Amino acid sequence: MTDRPDPFAAPFGSLFGDSMTQAELVDGTYSYSGSAQPMENFSLHPATHVLHYGSACFEGLKAHRQSNGTLALFRLDDHVERMRQSIGLLRMPVPDAALIRSLIIDAVEANADFTPDPPGSLYVRPTFIGTAPNIGAAAVPSDMGLLYVICSPVGDYFAGGIRPLTIYVETKVPRTTPQFGMVKSGANYVMALGPTLDAKRDHGADQVLFATADDITETGASNFFLIDDDRIITRQLDESFLHGVTRDSVITIAGDLGYSVEERPLSPSELADWAETGEVFLSGTAAVVAPVGTVIVEDSARTVRDGEPGPNTLRVRDALTTLLTGDADDPHGWRTTVSG
Ligand SMILES: Cc1ncc(COP(=O)(O)O)c(C=O)c1O
Repeated sequence: MTDRPDPFAAPFGSLFGDSMTQAELVDGTYSYSGSAQPMENFSLHPATHVLHYGSACFEGLKAHRQSNGTLALFRLDDHVERMRQSIGLLRMPVPDAALIRSLIIDAVEANADFTPDPPGSLYVRPTFIGTAPNIGAAAVPSDMGLLYVICSPVGDYFAGGIRPLTIYVETKVPRTTPQFGMVKSGANYVMALGPTLDAKRDHGADQVLFATADDITETGASNFFLIDDDRIITRQLDESFLHGVTRDSVITIAGDLGYSVEERPLSPSELADWAETGEVFLSGTAAVVAPVGTVIVEDSARTVRDGEPGPNTLRVRDALTTLLTGDADDPHGWRTTVSG
């Protein structure tokens, strides 16, 4: 790894391994050669479906170097299932779980030596695109597709490591449409871009927390939690937002640690009150557990407690990171060891 760029110095997601895997979808059937190939550019017809009608979705999971030197993917099967769900919601043929699993494992093994040591990791990006060259297909799914996996050695998602984030609570503009909240599709992210850039420019916010109709759901790229010494609270699942795998891990870990777990509606005014004494954090594969130091509710900035990462947030974060890196037992069977 000596001559390679440092993932901690490069922006998250801007470095790549040198191999990828891919399966082609033709006539409803996916075919995969069974091994990784060199990472290379695609050649796409200018009329390719995804370029016009947004037939794309992706996943994001990580492989971590373990304390015993092996490499393990975290919650592989949950990410495979969510990818299948996204492809299905795009109304495209859903690949077998075994195929997506193989594409991921083969890509990770081929890129294993790009994995930085913890707290770095190998970020894995399974992607699906509709590839039919047909600009008349606005109202029909692409009848061709490409399912591929690339890998990116990463350091910290938020430049500056663990630092308390500033969150702007957006009550007017939704992140995406309710029926697409559970799809991990690029369209959702481009929709969230405008409000996110505006909140960055106008309020110095790191992320936007979407809360239309006074209903807090998630930020542009993570789920959202309140925690204190006794309980942990997050929005109950429905179709309007992404069912984070880290969200599920956090809930499970917090339950194991003895917190009571509340999955229920949350309003901006409850958040504003909570910030007086409670802790706030974001969860996601990229962000892991990221403490929030300031919330901007109704355009007024409120410091969360003393503005520093709180003890309960750090406790949950530590419990999660020791699971990621193999420093703790794996009671829920979340790690998949791969070779490399
Ligand atoms: C919109 C959104 N919500 C939540 C999450 C967190 O999901 P996960 O914990 O599965 O990474 C992500 C990250 O992928 C996201 O993009």
